[in-house]
Amino acid sequence: MPFRVFVTANIGEDALNRLREQGYEVEVYDQIEPPPHSLIVEKVRSGVDALITTLRDRIDEEVFRAGKGTLRVVGQYAVGFDNIDRDAANRYGIPFTNTAEVLTDATAEFAFFILGCVARKLYPSERLVRKKKWGTWHPFHPFLGDEVTGRTVSVIGTGRIGQAFIQKCIGFRMDIVCFDTYPNENFVESVQTVLSTIHQVGLSDRQHSIRYASLDEALAEGDFVSLHVPLTPETRHLINAERLARMKKTAYLINTSRGPVVDEEALYWALKEGKIAGAALDVFHQEPLPEDSPLRDPELEDRLRLFHHFASAGRQTRLSVDPNLGMAGRAVQGVIDVLEGRYGGDPSRMPYVVNKEAFESLKEDPGQA
Ligand code: GLV
Repeated sequence: MPFRVFVTANIGEDALNRLREQGYEVEVYDQIEPPPHSLIVEKVRSGVDALITTLRDRIDEEVFRAGKGTLRVVGQYAVGFDNIDRDAANRYGIPFTNTAEVLTDATAEFAFFILGCVARKLYPSERLVRKKKWGTWHPFHPFLGDEVTGRTVSVIGTGRIGQAFIQKCIGFRMDIVCFDTYPNENFVESVQTVLSTIHQVGLSDRQHSIRYASLDEALAEGDFVSLHVPLTPETRHLINAERLARMKKTAYLINTSRGPVVDEEALYWALKEGKIAGAALDVFHQEPLPEDSPLRDPELEDRLRLFHHFASAGRQTRLSVDPNLGMAGRAVQGVIDVLEGRYGGDPSRMPYVVNKEAFESLKEDPGQA
């Protein structure tokens, strides 16, 4: 019997063909909207060996229970996996994979671009031209933007994407203040060496710096605050009214992580009352952004950029079948590793498996190997 794979969205023909070449029976939910939860449960109950899921699918206890004894792997087509009940996966002994690394630069550059977009008022400028409201060139009418070069950026979360984002900031000669509950001092030291070298060889007129600080300090010092944390119970509403109040009135908040990391209502009021200068958001509490979301308030339009969870949506990043380049390639490779029993059939040794802890106890005693 060939392995059966249910894919909850079309992840591109190249990747699907990679599965078919393995001899798998591949069923794709080929609609733009996600499948209903009940359909995922039904497919799993029908005995599929693998699921490939997106961040829109709730992969909960019910799904894992339906797959008890038959579902062998869930391949998540995203780096974030807050839609997957990790404890339930572990209870049922089902490994799940994600697509870390391949979307790091795409997401980091997007965060940097939307930072520039909101600060330099790219959207109001283009709207002016398109709406035929561009009267004349003037030193400051109808508005000015804020420069990015040489300013201070606070980076909340210095995992892969936070680090890649910091690397983009180096060329803009920014001072960098980091916060993370698990600081990576080696990385910060390396960046400081680069910043110092840039100054020493005369490529910047002053010495720029990078350092770790407390969350409150980071929020207070940044001209820009960019969020790069996963969504966990600890990071839910990490940026709330109190923390927004610590930011400079002239600062901008950038969120490409997960919507619930920011208390949206608090952000709305912070923008409305001018407690911060602006924000650029790629992620929201509810996606798509509800029609009646206060964030759509026209009064905020010039200071608030809104995107459709688009950060990783580069062509290569989304579709490449190479597991070192694309989410599609990595998602299918993670599934193939498990189904083909690669790495000695030990999920805790498989590079793309997230919940390795569920399998570590099954490891052979090295003394007996
Ligand atoms: C996108 O948000 C992802 O987690 O891959």
